[in-house]
Amino acid sequence: MKPSILIARAIFPEVISRLSSHFEVESNQDDRVFTPQELVQKMQGKSGVLCTASARFNAEVLEQLPELKAIANMAVGYDNLDLPACTARRILASNTPDVLNETTADFGWALLMATARRVTESEHWLRAGKWDKWRYDYFLGSDIHGSTLGIIGMGRIGQAIARRSMGFDMHVIYHNRTRLTPEQEAHANNAQYVTKEELLARADHVMLVLPYSSGTHHTISEDELAMMKPTATLVNLARGGIVNDVALIDALRHKTIAAAGLDVFENEPKFHSDFLTLNNVVLTPHIASATEPTRRAMANCAADNLIAALQNRRPPNLLNPAALI
Ligand code: DGY
Repeated sequence: MKPSILIARAIFPEVISRLSSHFEVESNQDDRVFTPQELVQKMQGKSGVLCTASARFNAEVLEQLPELKAIANMAVGYDNLDLPACTARRILASNTPDVLNETTADFGWALLMATARRVTESEHWLRAGKWDKWRYDYFLGSDIHGSTLGIIGMGRIGQAIARRSMGFDMHVIYHNRTRLTPEQEAHANNAQYVTKEELLARADHVMLVLPYSSGTHHTISEDELAMMKPTATLVNLARGGIVNDVALIDALRHKTIAAAGLDVFENEPKFHSDFLTLNNVVLTPHIASATEPTRRAMANCAADNLIAALQNRRPPNLLNPAALI
């Protein structure tokens, strides 16, 4: 008998077909976002799940799923998974790194350019029929070329963002848990390692690309925003919760920083409605990895991980090798 799995969210049909050749599949093409109780109920009798970051597998949920052997998260971020609890239950947890690096880095630039050059704000103004004449001071933004880019979180995506800055003659400074090797720094537009405080004080544009955890909660809050230049922009590509959104709204409202570009929010998709009252913020709905080839690659990567785990092979992107022991 084939093992049973749940595909917890809508997915490319060919990925369902692929998984159906290995497993009894229950899919969710209506794309209902399950409550924790519904998730537990849907998961009964299932050995594996292909899920996205909207499904939280914490200790309380896992306790109710004694048959679960594998969780394949279709995301590089995995703050929705309690890894120690997975390991304690010998559940193999996996994510989808690398396949989204370049696409996400492209989007970081889209958000930075839109934010610094006021693209969406000026478009809304034009669409509202307010364009009466050319004026020397309409929508003055800040320059990207020749400026200092500060990247917090210099993993693979951060490095891909830094490489792209060469074309803009930028100076890159970064802060990360561990310093890159000299070769990696050279490849990342000669990125210079600095403290978080120095980065915030020097950068013209700050880009957040670090993983979310209890240790990175509110990495950017009142104090950090106060350290930034009043002309600076802040881009969050990583996860809601890394920025204190209430503090950011206050900083944007009082122009203690110039502007922000946000792809992720605290409590998304129900983000803080005060953002909608501000002109100096560009808001996108968590789409940094959203191109068709990349989302297909992520879905297939998650499927590869799930198939391997349930065939007693090591998943290519296993997050908790201790669970194998
Ligand atoms: C990721 O891969 O972590 C993206 O943010 C999608 O959740």
